[in-house]
Amino acid sequence: MRDWAGSTAFVTGGARGIGLGIARSLAKRGVSLALADVDASALGQAAEELTRLTEVRTYELDVRDRERFEEVADETERELGPVDLLFNNAGVVPYATAEQLSYDTWDLVLGVNLTGVINGIQAFLPRMIGRRAGHVVNTASGAGLVADPNVPYVTSKFAVVGLSESLRLSAAPHGVEVSVLCPGPVDTDIVGNTGALHEGLALRDDLVPVVEAFLRSGPGVDEVGEMVLAAMEAGKPWIFTGYDAGPHIEARTAALLDCL
Ligand SMILES: NC(=O)c1ccc[n+]([C@@H]2O[C@H](COP(=O)([O-])OP(=O)(O)OC[C@H]3O[C@@H](n4cnc5c(N)ncnc54)[C@H](O)[C@@H]3O)[C@@H](O)[C@H]2O)c1
Repeated sequence: MRDWAGSTAFVTGGARGIGLGIARSLAKRGVSLALADVDASALGQAAEELTRLTEVRTYELDVRDRERFEEVADETERELGPVDLLFNNAGVVPYATAEQLSYDTWDLVLGVNLTGVINGIQAFLPRMIGRRAGHVVNTASGAGLVADPNVPYVTSKFAVVGLSESLRLSAAPHGVEVSVLCPGPVDTDIVGNTGALHEGLALRDDLVPVVEAFLRSGPGVDEVGEMVLAAMEAGKPWIFTGYDAGPHIEARTAALLDCL
């Protein structure tokens, strides 16, 4: 059993959704929390809830902002001590198929979902390597293992899976573990949050009910938080959230092997 108490975690997109679910599970185990998000009011609510359980700091941070990320990393370690658990989780989900692709969508999705993860790694990994301790969990998606037609989102998530698998190999000799969270549907407001945060990149009206119903078919964020910590304890490279991705992964692998 891992001894969580005494650790410090940094969670991006920690104000809501899956990030908040992970933060709640960590708080229950006595982990000090640094929550970073672009949404100041959601951060305030999360802090109010979690300070009843553990020490919490919140930081307004756009994960695309490299300089601010470094500042916040310094501030977190000054206030809460060395960060040994890093959750690069902030993400958005604009929907764009072949005929809808635009530079704006590419920049947004790759900026938040991929560069945001890279910025987290650059801010904290050297410190973890220096201390020979740490666990990085990057949030990708089932869409990072099996493609669907949402091109920029799938691109960003395949990249996060590849980054995580490679970093796992590369960081292990330095005593740093890496896992990648590949959620299936999880009951969050990511569709509405993406539209609210990034005007013009909201999901097409007719698709909203379909996608939201799919997300509601998945577990809630508290359940996901517990799944993430259990998988970390078990040393799993890939973390799943109850959705049966098996048949999709098998079909993809069979198609790949067919082309060999
Ligand atoms: N909900 C799902 O079904 C699902 C499935 C697969 C993958 N994911 C991934 O899980 C992660 C979390 O998603 P969620 O469903 O909890 O969404 P959510 O919208 O509930 O939470 C995401 C949080 O990230 C924050 N955020 C967005 N852009 C940011 C930025 N530039 N900088 C800092 N914070 C930012 C938002 O304000 C929000 O609080 C994302 O990476 C998403 O792609 C979610």
